[in-house]
Amino acid sequence: MTKKKRVFSGIQPSGELHIGNYLGAVKNWVELQEQYECFFCIVDLHAVTQPYEPEEMPARVFDMALTLMAAGLDPEKCTIFVQSHVPQHAELAWLFNTVTPIGELERMTQYKDKASRQESVLAGLLNYPVLQAADILLYQAELVPVGEDQVQHVELTREIARKWNGRFGEYFPEPEALVGEVRRVMGLDGQAKMSKSLGNTIGLLESPDEIWAKLRPAVTDPARVRREDPGNPFVCNIFSLHRHFSSPADIAWSEHGCRTAGIGCIDCKRRLADNIIKELDPIRERAMELKRHPERVAETLERGAEHCREIASSTMQEALARMGLRGGGPKVKGR
Ligand code: AMP
Ligand code: TRP
Repeated sequence: MTKKKRVFSGIQPSGELHIGNYLGAVKNWVELQEQYECFFCIVDLHAVTQPYEPEEMPARVFDMALTLMAAGLDPEKCTIFVQSHVPQHAELAWLFNTVTPIGELERMTQYKDKASRQESVLAGLLNYPVLQAADILLYQAELVPVGEDQVQHVELTREIARKWNGRFGEYFPEPEALVGEVRRVMGLDGQAKMSKSLGNTIGLLESPDEIWAKLRPAVTDPARVRREDPGNPFVCNIFSLHRHFSSPADIAWSEHGCRTAGIGCIDCKRRLADNIIKELDPIRERAMELKRHPERVAETLERGAEHCREIASSTMQEALARMGLRGGGPKVKGR
């Protein structure tokens, strides 16, 4: 049997997921776990590069783990763990810092964006992508499923692998980004990408009533002012959500009804709400079950970290040895 390729991805512990994260990332992960050896990491060491409240962090991490499991990540099929439970992430990041040009880090779009909004820019924010490279390469992962915004970081990971290998011998693979089909889910305001900080989200665990309360007033085609006005579904975010959640028949119904003013926006939204609720129902059910059994989440994370520490320790042994550290010399290279 050929060895399964390794997949690695990470997500910030933001607490609850929204349908943008779900469609853009987590839904793909659920499919990938069937085919590959997958590692999914809750990146708390990355999260502390932004202002935060220490007392809130444990709940943010726990809720993210619970939501990922509810969304369909199965601890029997993949490894789910918390970054800070595996100390080698920070250790390898330090080694990679020594081969990473500052100029490359300063070019990163996400860094520039975040740094421009801060008065005093901390080193952790600049070095964020180095830690991300360590996350991926600690497991020698070859595939990295991420949103479009993370492709640049995966490119940098390849470069760090190349630079390190060039100096210390071929060891780390150059991973590839896997960008899913759903690149950008717009928020309910129809103005910007769905994002927790903009308050334009539908949470993955929201109840049918909450979902309807958010969808009902959501922005549609602004040119369709009255019920009798025909609309243009292709400028309407409700229609784009139909394309993510509805059957081909319902999508055709919405498109035709909108163009001919055969249906009103409220009819269209109600059908969408029903379809979203249908897809999210089993996720919410599983989440409620896990909330009754929090020990299942805790055990999953413990087992995950244990498995990861084993792999991580073997990678570190080799990497340190090749760098002439911890008393080791290069094992490979035919000596
Ligand atoms: P974030 O919550 O921004 O850290 O994102 C976590 C993951 O979800 C990343 O892979 C993002 O690319 C993806 N993601 C976040 N928001 C959206 C969105 N509105 N549409 C599609 N993907 C998203
Ligand atoms: N930076 C990623 C994000 O903001 C999260 C992340 C951390 C990650 N380490 C990773 C993603 C390793 C993929 C692989 O979404």
